[in-house]
Amino acid sequence: MTESGKNLFGLSSEHKKRLIDRMRQRQKTGNTYDVREKANLTAFKKEIPAEYYNIDDLPGLKQLHIQASAAEKFGIQNPFFRCHTGVANNSTSIDGRKFINYSSYNYLGLNGHPRVSKAAKTAIDHYGTSASASRPVSGERPIHRELEIALAEVHGTEDCVVYVSGHATNVTTIGSLFGKKDLILHDSLAHNSIIQGAILSGSKRLTFPHNDFQSLNQMLENNRRQYERVLIVTEGMYSMDGDIPDIPKFIEIKNHHKVFLMVDEAHSIGVLGKKGFGIAEHFNINADQIDILMGTLSKSLAACGGYVCGKHSLIENLKYTSPGFVYSVGMSPPVAAAALEALHILKEEPERVTKLQSNANLFFELAKNAGLDTGYCEGYSVIPVIVGSSLIAAKLSNLLYEHGVNVQPIIYPAVEERAARLRFFLSSSHTEEEIRSTIDIVSRELKALKKKPVYKFV
Ligand SMILES: Cc1ncc(COP(=O)(O)O)c(C=O)c1O
Repeated sequence: MTESGKNLFGLSSEHKKRLIDRMRQRQKTGNTYDVREKANLTAFKKEIPAEYYNIDDLPGLKQLHIQASAAEKFGIQNPFFRCHTGVANNSTSIDGRKFINYSSYNYLGLNGHPRVSKAAKTAIDHYGTSASASRPVSGERPIHRELEIALAEVHGTEDCVVYVSGHATNVTTIGSLFGKKDLILHDSLAHNSIIQGAILSGSKRLTFPHNDFQSLNQMLENNRRQYERVLIVTEGMYSMDGDIPDIPKFIEIKNHHKVFLMVDEAHSIGVLGKKGFGIAEHFNINADQIDILMGTLSKSLAACGGYVCGKHSLIENLKYTSPGFVYSVGMSPPVAAAALEALHILKEEPERVTKLQSNANLFFELAKNAGLDTGYCEGYSVIPVIVGSSLIAAKLSNLLYEHGVNVQPIIYPAVEERAARLRFFLSSSHTEEEIRSTIDIVSRELKALKKKPVYKFV
């Protein structure tokens, strides 16, 4: 018995007694049991398996252990959770060693920039380190609105709302705006946060083949009329593959079928367009043709958090109804201040964007010339080198680490097994020499690895 008078099945002893009496009565009269009684009776008889209540037996951990023992068998060290001890830029420090770094989102070298750090420190002096409440109820600070207005201006939209996490921005925005009678169509390579938001919404969820607007159009022809609201979700630049969608075509389709379009600019703000203002600048289109323009502060903008830009009506709606905003603390003031200062620098120094784009293009061209498989990549800032097996990806990442190059493997289930890869994030801070020497090492080590019998047939 528990304190609340409930037994281990979660039933009070009184309830249990009533249930048994009813069952006995029915046995006597020959009446059959109803389905619920039968299920309850079975539950009394059966032992509850340990994996249903033992925290050590939850399924995620099992999968992890299977992967870890496979890695151990092949002598592969765990490449995850390596601890960096300074600002991660084109180089980084791990365990007292310096590495050329390709595993950070610091696209424009603004994390650690003296102006950005100073802005955060000044905000701490003004507001402390926490907003101490949700924004509707006492958490609002001037820096929040300043940041939102600056983001709306850069994207060319009416308004903006910022959230404490980029992932939570997608989950709560999609999850709260759409419901059971709606349809969400997202790219087959959509980020996890988009998928989680769609699941939370309870809407019907369909995926269209990567960047394939013709298939999307056909899916809408077949399905649109069966739902009330329909949302298409795409990304400004794909974080695993480094390619971009043909947004003008998506806008055409959205208008034709009378549906909404959402674009996640996590990896395109600071990267696409001459000034780095993102997908709208890249295609020279008006951003108000995109209904929901989402972005994150954790990449080019050297901070943490996410945002949605769009019409005043959308922003007002989200500020009063999206649980991830209403029931979550306001953004930490130094974080908001850092992002705002990074935005100012982005506007003042477009040469950072030019340098990032030329670095990425150099890496991309050298990789292709060396015969490396860069998949769908278009050479903007994220460059995958696809090796086709999680084992090879992990091993290659470790070999590069020994050579002083830090790059993370992306393995199953983050991508399909045959699409396992190393993912290189380029930065405006990388030097030509760093890029050239990296490509040399990658192609040499990958060739050698593929010749080894143990990796040849995986
Ligand atoms: C496309 C995309 N959307 C959303 C997110 C989540 O953003 P954050 O890491 O800032 O929470 C990411 C993270 O990498 C992303 O790549």
